[in-house]
Amino acid sequence: MAKVKTTFFCQQCGTQYAQWQGQCNACKEWNTISEEIIEKKEITSWNISSKKTSASKSQKISEIAIKTEDRISTNNQEFDRVLGGGIVKGSVILLGGEPGIGKSTLLLQIALLLEKKVLYVSGEESASQIKMRADRLHKDHSNCYVLTETKTQNIFKNIETIKPDIVVIDSIQTLHTDFIEASAGSVSQIKQTTSELTKFAKETAIPVLIIGHITKDGHIAGPKILEHMVDVVLQFEGDRNHVYRILRANKNRFGSTSELGIYEMQAIGLREVNNPSEILISEKDASLSGTSIAATMEGVRPLMIEVQALVSTAVYGTPQRSSTGYNIKRLHMLLAVLEKRAGFRLGAKDVFLNIAGGIKIDDPAIDLAVVTAILSSNEDIAIPQDTCFAAEVGLSGEIRPVSRIEQRILDAEKLGFEKIYISKYNKIATRNFSITICKISKIEELVKLLL
Ligand code: TYD
Ligand code: MG
Repeated sequence: MAKVKTTFFCQQCGTQYAQWQGQCNACKEWNTISEEIIEKKEITSWNISSKKTSASKSQKISEIAIKTEDRISTNNQEFDRVLGGGIVKGSVILLGGEPGIGKSTLLLQIALLLEKKVLYVSGEESASQIKMRADRLHKDHSNCYVLTETKTQNIFKNIETIKPDIVVIDSIQTLHTDFIEASAGSVSQIKQTTSELTKFAKETAIPVLIIGHITKDGHIAGPKILEHMVDVVLQFEGDRNHVYRILRANKNRFGSTSELGIYEMQAIGLREVNNPSEILISEKDASLSGTSIAATMEGVRPLMIEVQALVSTAVYGTPQRSSTGYNIKRLHMLLAVLEKRAGFRLGAKDVFLNIAGGIKIDDPAIDLAVVTAILSSNEDIAIPQDTCFAAEVGLSGEIRPVSRIEQRILDAEKLGFEKIYISKYNKIATRNFSITICKISKIEELVKLLL
C-alpha cells in the first residue's frame, strides 16, 4: 500500500507545517494546527474538453484590445453597484457572511433575476428546499438550474451538459475534489477546489459566484490565500435580529471598494434599499439624549456606530465609570478634558458608556462621538439622528484630524446623514459632498454648536 501523505495546516491562516505544534508561528493562534491528508496525484483541474492551453505570449500593453461588453448586469442595482457595474466575465466572486444573514437568499435571488442561464450548485440544501425558497421569492425561474452536488468533478460534468452562463456555488466549505483526501472544509480542500473553480472561470469566461462561511471573528473561513485567489470579495453583514443588510466589497479587481449596497430582509426575500436615509427616518421618532453616531473605520471599512452614554448623579460615595467596547482609560481622559476645558463638573457623576452592538472599537475617530454622547446625556439634550462625528480629541481639548476622512464622509452621505462634524485640520480634496461638513477645532466650539 502506498504511504499516505499528510501535512499539517493552520486552520486559521493556512500556513503549512511538517509536524504538529501548539501555536501557529504565522498568526499566533493556539490549537489551530491539524493534520490533513494530501494525495498529490497529478493535480490537473477541470477538463471540459481536451483543449490544450497554449503557452501565453507577451504583448505590448498598448496593443491589448479591450472588450467593452465584458460585464453582465444582474438586474439588481445594489449588487451591480457594489461590483462596479455588473459581473465581469470570467471573474470569481466570493461572498462571505454570518450564518443566516441571507447569503443563499441573495445569490438565489440574483440567479433568478438574471436573464442568463444560471447553474445554482448547492451542497447545503436539498433541491426541494431551494425550490421552496425560489417560490417564496416570487420570481420567474425558467433559466435557473439547480444541482445538489459537492464533488467538483461532477459539477464540471454538469456544466458541460448544461452550458450555463453563470455558476453559483453554495458553499465553498462543502466542496471536495478527488485529488485531495482531506475532508471538505479543510484548508487544503478549500485551496484546491477554489483553484479549480478559478481556473475554470478564467478559461471559459464563465463567472463563478462562491459563498463562503466566516469564522467567529468575521474573516472568511479557510486560508487567507482564498481571498487572494478570487477577483472580488464581498461581505454581507448586518444584525440578524434587524432587517437591514449591508453588502460591501472588501476587495474588487474591477471597481472601487467604497461602494455599498443596502437591502432589507422581507418575507419575500431581500428588497433593495435605494434611498438609505429611509433607514434613519424609520428610527427617528425615538430621539433620545445620550446617543451619538460615530463614523469609524474598521481596517479599510467604514462603519457607523452608535455610542450611548449615561451620566447621572453618583448615589454612592465614589462615582462609577464603566465602559463597554471602549477603552476605560481613554474615557477617564475625555472626562478630565471635558471638566478642565469645557467646565463640566463630571467628577461627582456616574458615567456609563456603551458602544452599541457590543463591538470593540480601537479607531480614535470615535472620541468626538463619545464626548458628544456624554454631553448629550449630561445636559439631557438629544443629538439630531442625522448627525455623525469623526475626529480624535486631544489632551488640551483640541479636535484632531483622522485618517481616510473622505471615505468616512462618503459613507455617512450614502447612509443618509445630513451633517458630519470633523476636525478643522482635516484636509479634504476638492470633491463636492451633499452632506453638510462642520469643521471644528476645539471642544468649546462643539459645546457651543450642540447645546
Ligand atoms: P439564508 O439565505 O439561508 O442565510 P445564509 O445562507 O447566509 O445562511 O437566509 C436565512 C434567513 O433569511 C432565514 O433566517 C430566514 C430569512 N428569510 C426571510 O426573512 N425571507 C425570505 O424570503 C427568505 C428566503 C429568508
Ligand atoms: Mg446558506
